[in-house]
Amino acid sequence: MISLVTGAAGFIGSHLAEELIRKGGQVVGVDSFTDYYSRGIKENNLEYLREQEGFTFIEGDLLDLDLEKLLAGIDYCFHQAAQAGVRASWGKYFDTYTRCNILATQRLLEAAKESRLKKFVFASSSSVYGDNQDMPLREDSLPRPLSPYGVTKLAAENLVSLYYKNYGLPTVSLRYFTVFGPRQRPDMAFHKFIKAIFKDEEIFIYGDGEQTRDFTFISDIVHANILAAESELSGEIFNIGGGSRISLKGTIKILEENIGRQAKLRCVESQRGDMRHTWADISRVKDLLGYKPDVDLSQGLVQEIEWLKSLPDTT
Ligand SMILES: NC(=O)c1ccc[n+]([C@@H]2O[C@H](COP(=O)([O-])OP(=O)(O)OC[C@H]3O[C@@H](n4cnc5c(N)ncnc54)[C@H](O)[C@@H]3O)[C@@H](O)[C@H]2O)c1
Repeated sequence: MISLVTGAAGFIGSHLAEELIRKGGQVVGVDSFTDYYSRGIKENNLEYLREQEGFTFIEGDLLDLDLEKLLAGIDYCFHQAAQAGVRASWGKYFDTYTRCNILATQRLLEAAKESRLKKFVFASSSSVYGDNQDMPLREDSLPRPLSPYGVTKLAAENLVSLYYKNYGLPTVSLRYFTVFGPRQRPDMAFHKFIKAIFKDEEIFIYGDGEQTRDFTFISDIVHANILAAESELSGEIFNIGGGSRISLKGTIKILEENIGRQAKLRCVESQRGDMRHTWADISRVKDLLGYKPDVDLSQGLVQEIEWLKSLPDTT
């Protein structure tokens, strides 16, 4: 079994590629090292993979590469590459979001329709939903993204569905709810909060801290991708969440308990594009793919804390 993982140097892509290798598969990883965060961090993410015989890395941009050639002989494509992050997606940066999230996905789908892929798994996002929805969020809720990032993820998800409907490309889109764990991106809340607590620095809370999130541990996201690839189902969209929600202030209490130090909080103005609440209804993916989250927030945070502690610039 040969898989292509796009965005293989990123947080989720690197974990997914490792698990595919551990399961005895071969993986082609592709990444262009976008400058959203440092190349050094992404090189560290690739450290284990680069030593694996079954892993081949291609440095390149999905906007430039010969994608038909890239997909030749591939069984499963896990499309994780994207310009991530809600807050940076406004203004002049929208151009990068449209290129990396919409155009790159369309190019990959065009090549995939000519290929012999058994499954095309797409990393979508809870950001497609937006606010004012009934909770928990169900896949059939009307998507109304609040951020330009969410707009691009929804556009890409719609393209994925189009290639299933029009060309019979076997696709599954997974709407990830805030992913955490070792290698979490440096712009994400837990990564920043944990470092700030260790360094006795202020944590900036956008809004009142009562906003809630459904957090999903990285190994559960990886498992969901593999279930989606192995399933007979196509043309589906599934929420992938941790199955419960907690306020931001609640998460800080858990961090304080685990680290054994008090956090210094400062509430600042809420950010444009941030959803007030997220909470995934995961009953569909439970019933149809047998997905169930295995790692709860507290257990997962211990792993993220340990990972951050091991980095030279944390303490
Ligand atoms: N982390 C989360 O909480 C979360 C939540 C919902 C959805 N997602 C989605 O999951 C996927 C992975 O997210 P992540 O947190 O690992 O982000 P990440 O930034 O760590 O990884 C994405 C990788 O894609 C690469 N990339 C971007 N554009 C590319 C292009 N045109 N060609 C080649 N490589 C390119 C980047 O260099 C980066 O290494 C993304 O599609 C993101 O939208 C993430």
